[in-house]
Amino acid sequence: MQFQSPVKIRIGEPYLDALADEVGDRSWLLITSRGWTTRHLVDEMIGRLGRPVMVIDHVEPNPRLSSVLAMGREASRAEAIVAVGGGSVLDAAKGIAAVHALGPEAPDQIARHLKGEALLPRGFAPPPIIAVPTTSGTGSEVTRWATIWGDDRRKYSIEDPALYPTAAILDPGLTMTMPPEVTLASGLDALSHAFEAVWNRSHTVLTDLMASAAIDLIVRNLREAVLQPQSRRRREAMQTASLMAGMAMANTRTALAHSMSYPFTAELGLPHGLACSFTLAEVARFNFETHETRLQPIAKGFGCDLAEVPERIEALLKGLGVGEALIRYLPADPLAAIKGDLITPSRAGNNIRPPDAKSARALADRAYSTLAGDRPRPIFEAAEKTR
Ligand SMILES: [Fe+2]
Repeated sequence: MQFQSPVKIRIGEPYLDALADEVGDRSWLLITSRGWTTRHLVDEMIGRLGRPVMVIDHVEPNPRLSSVLAMGREASRAEAIVAVGGGSVLDAAKGIAAVHALGPEAPDQIARHLKGEALLPRGFAPPPIIAVPTTSGTGSEVTRWATIWGDDRRKYSIEDPALYPTAAILDPGLTMTMPPEVTLASGLDALSHAFEAVWNRSHTVLTDLMASAAIDLIVRNLREAVLQPQSRRRREAMQTASLMAGMAMANTRTALAHSMSYPFTAELGLPHGLACSFTLAEVARFNFETHETRLQPIAKGFGCDLAEVPERIEALLKGLGVGEALIRYLPADPLAAIKGDLITPSRAGNNIRPPDAKSARALADRAYSTLAGDRPRPIFEAAEKTR
């Protein structure tokens, strides 16, 4: 087993200081989302770093291959790529970096790579990526892969060690403007990364420790981060949790809960953080039956006994209003509406207990009924009142 993280992580300094230091006098391409352009953050960066060769600020949520290829073609060449945004922006930046490096061969080579037919070529050398996350959940700032959605609505990964960002700059101040829905969904994504690193065939003592610490922080801070959006202390805790869960997941990859999530996002539009987390209590039960002691790092994170883990996860999800959020996004019988397989072998196969397609469907169905079946209370109404 190996543990690897070549990303320089900068925490505890204003993002502009860290960014100016990382970019230096190199030419830079800025990739961000339109919200940040309108919030004057881009002007602030230009004032400090000088003009980028180009600003790309129209990254779509869950970027598709066709749009990544188009952005890669339109992007001017630069010595460094600065990506400021949530997971979709960071993943798009990796895709654009790959298109730059592959040149005219990019559409063909990336298409073959996404289908699993080929690695990216030897000597693949994209421009260095400096990642500045503005959400707390994706972990993309410390991984070597990017999620790209096919125009067939299937989820693919582009992956290469050269796609690790060279630096991740973590400033909790940039996460303060996340709306409650995004705080919740991204925090749930981080929670799922921590759990999936634990019930994973590739777990190590290091990934277990990081996952436990991340779970502990999320259990103590996510609900409060949703309800108190201006609390810098809660934002900082969630950012640290997301980083640790991301580093654990960057080494183990994800597992069954992520495998089952993809059709919910691709076919029914359920945001990733909700899709990969609403099944967590049921996945815990499934794994507990055969690998009880493997859940110890999760019990440690909750500060509870092993046997209590599934119930504690279920109570946490209910307390966060996940059931209410599911009802808002999904039809009454979501499993009947999903045509795709819930098993993506490269993810589900990492689960400590091998699942099959039938058990995965039953498990997702149970998870949905448990959370959405008893008129759950919305958390966002409470968030509105405390603002
Ligand atoms: Fe995820």
